[in-house]
Amino acid sequence: MYHSKLDSFPDNFLWGAASAAYQIEGGWNTDGKGLTIWDQYAQVPGNTFENTDGKVAVDHYHRYKEDVQLMKKMGLKAYRFSVSWARILPDGEGEVNEAGVQFYEDLIDELIENGIEPLLTLYHWDLPLALQEKYQGWEGRETVQAFKKYCEVLFKRFANKVTYWITMNEQNVFTALGYRWQAHPPKVSDVKRMYQANHLINLAHAEAVASFREFVPKGKIGPSFGYGATYPASSHPQDVLAAENGDTFNNRWWLDVYCKGRYPVFMMKQLKKMGIAPEVTEVDENLLQSVKPDFLGINYYHGGTVKTNQWEELTKEAKEKEYSSIDPYQMAAKEGEITIESGMFQTIENPHLEKTDWGWEIDPVGFRVALRKVYAEYDLPVLITENGLGALDTLTEDKKIHDDYRINYLKDHLIELQKTITDGVEVLGYCAWSFTDLLSWLNGYKKRYGFIYIDRDNQEERSLERIPKDSFYWYQKVIETNGDNLTNDL
Ligand code: BG6
Repeated sequence: MYHSKLDSFPDNFLWGAASAAYQIEGGWNTDGKGLTIWDQYAQVPGNTFENTDGKVAVDHYHRYKEDVQLMKKMGLKAYRFSVSWARILPDGEGEVNEAGVQFYEDLIDELIENGIEPLLTLYHWDLPLALQEKYQGWEGRETVQAFKKYCEVLFKRFANKVTYWITMNEQNVFTALGYRWQAHPPKVSDVKRMYQANHLINLAHAEAVASFREFVPKGKIGPSFGYGATYPASSHPQDVLAAENGDTFNNRWWLDVYCKGRYPVFMMKQLKKMGIAPEVTEVDENLLQSVKPDFLGINYYHGGTVKTNQWEELTKEAKEKEYSSIDPYQMAAKEGEITIESGMFQTIENPHLEKTDWGWEIDPVGFRVALRKVYAEYDLPVLITENGLGALDTLTEDKKIHDDYRINYLKDHLIELQKTITDGVEVLGYCAWSFTDLLSWLNGYKKRYGFIYIDRDNQEERSLERIPKDSFYWYQKVIETNGDNLTNDL
């Protein structure tokens, strides 16, 4: 749709920025905090980039007041942060650690006093280690109950202070990295276990939403999902079908469960055939169907492009060669590795898109495509819970960071967001990733996302001084004008 004039951003639009506990807090064993799976994982040489860890991170735990003052200076309307479960329940399920709860209460109070809406994420990947050891983490149903207990501690304590709550951050990402690609704890490579753990996480999400209705009746709750649209490589019907499969595999497998309370039929049938489907009881089904989120949190970085699946191609080839018996599975095995995707789609590069220094496609129009798709499909308001550019920043001698590349990236995405709003999508707010520079789970401290530079690198903590980048002042202006300045120079 072409719009000659764009609608303004809504008056109460939540202009925000985001973070996650392990990536910023530090204070890994301070004030009674229990260990998390990341505290342990990062100690094993070779597990993380240049062995970086979050022991000190950017020391937000001790400097949160200074950070909130910078948020105020910037004019932020909202700040998304996550709570570290092991600060609240050090062993994941037992005694409450009052000092941990108090830290978040102080942070929330500080935000509110400074006119900033707190957006609280319940789980951003730092599972208490004790639960991993006792119950095999998300593979044990006990962990679902522990999560419910943890959430209820926070619901009861902050019901009157926090309106917006996020259950799981990027469930699609952390399950794949942890149980398939061996890049996150528990560093497993077993897709059956991945789907089973993922199912239990769905139950944990559902339990949290059900309790939320009881304890925080006036609040709003939803997941944060790592979403991107799936493009077909061409208009060839096989590619279009592959894109359907890709979308189901990458997105609907989670979004249908959150929003419709059930798994998508085609994919479930496919996984059953492969013997890797999760075991879903009738009680589970009822629980999943009994809840619905109030909004969809979307983390948008990029989507993907796909073409006809491998087996389709091999079958065609076999027919052409007039092989008597066609067994694509055998053929695929000969050609190389068989994956879950083999029979559904093949991911390819999109020749129309530029990439970041880390090879992530840059696709602002895809942001609009993605938001329109989820809004049309699930009929829920969306909250952008992450979007941003990871880059190598240079500190000049006069202590400036001229990050025009980040400004351009954010600006392009925000203009597309404004078009999306003009199209008719209900968007509650936008949280750039991230407020300060922070620890990237897989890329250490050099991949910087923040509006605020932190004086530290992979090896040295240095002064941890906070230095606003050019993008800080640019975003300040965006917020001040409620986004009206974005299209001024178009
Ligand atoms: C999202 C996560 O996947 O992307 C964040 O929710 C993460 O925690 C962000 O930092 C950027 O990823 P990366 O790997 O570049 O740090």
